[in-house]
Amino acid sequence: MRDRYGREVSDLRISLTQRCNLRCVFCHMEGQPVAREELTAEEIARVVRAGARIGIERVKLTGGEPTLRTDLPDLIARIRPFVREISMTTNGLLLEELAGTLRAAGLDRVNVSLPSLDRATYKRLTGVDGVDRTVRGIRAAARAGLRPIKINVVALHGTTDRTPSVDALLDLAQEHEAWLQVIEFEPVEGRVDPRIYRALHSELSRLTQEAAAQAFEVSRNRLHDRPQYTFTTKGRTARVEVVQPVNNPGFCMACHRLRLTSNGALKGCLMTNEGLLDLRSILRDGRADADAELVRAFEAAIRRRRPFYTGASTPVPEPAPEADPFVPEGPSIPLVG
Ligand code: 5AD
Repeated sequence: MRDRYGREVSDLRISLTQRCNLRCVFCHMEGQPVAREELTAEEIARVVRAGARIGIERVKLTGGEPTLRTDLPDLIARIRPFVREISMTTNGLLLEELAGTLRAAGLDRVNVSLPSLDRATYKRLTGVDGVDRTVRGIRAAARAGLRPIKINVVALHGTTDRTPSVDALLDLAQEHEAWLQVIEFEPVEGRVDPRIYRALHSELSRLTQEAAAQAFEVSRNRLHDRPQYTFTTKGRTARVEVVQPVNNPGFCMACHRLRLTSNGALKGCLMTNEGLLDLRSILRDGRADADAELVRAFEAAIRRRRPFYTGASTPVPEPAPEADPFVPEGPSIPLVG
């Protein structure tokens, strides 16, 4: 089904939980209102089945950290019949144990968040000494065939703007024929601390320009019209996808995604909770026509969708000069490479 701006809605990004085993300083928490309540696997499958009736073809599982759901294999198996593709965004800490089981349950591919390959930087950004586990998780995902893997790195001062650090991530991506997906740090209101945003936000332009300049092939992801650059470095093929939403109307106009919050509300956009539509009451009221009601709720949510960045000036926190505890000091940043 298309929304009022002609955008086909084909993707559903499902937050399975707000629990997480990391505490990333930059995390947008999917822009959701804080909630403890979670939908059951059966309820999520009912929502996906209703979504499929209005054209949902792809599901992305996210969190919090989705692998903290102990019923994850069952949940994937229940969704599997209704969609063409199921992917998952994870921090990878539990992937080494789970990759094979999740693949067998019907998961197609994973995005693994990896803010840095440097041990101290990873720990400083995520609160956990977990870089080795995450890398082992990526290896396990590759072995299990959860491909193509995307390695998600948020562009931050002290990580992506340091060339050696990006090079190390590119090497890892190349090793597993993975995409390095570089994501602009997004200032999600109410979720991302503006002080941290001001301290860590890093422009993507240099990285993007370099990838674009070296590319022998440029493609576009239909989702968000994201540019994908393929180039050769160190005699091997490297692939970089750039996610640059802020003040980018082209990104929004190619947004085919609706979101389901962990407590069961349909949400039209990461950046705002305007027009949230509660499905939990439909699921739990015990009405005979609940499934038809879910379909109507999807239709209503799609009618409510609006592009966030329209080209008019959009609110991004003003840069401020004061020092911040999370600013990595120049020379003390451990470099990789
Ligand atoms: N801006 C951009 N990307 C973010 N992510 C988490 N917080 C932010 C933010 N503020 C990314 C993570 C993860 C995915 C779920 O979103 O790197 O891969």
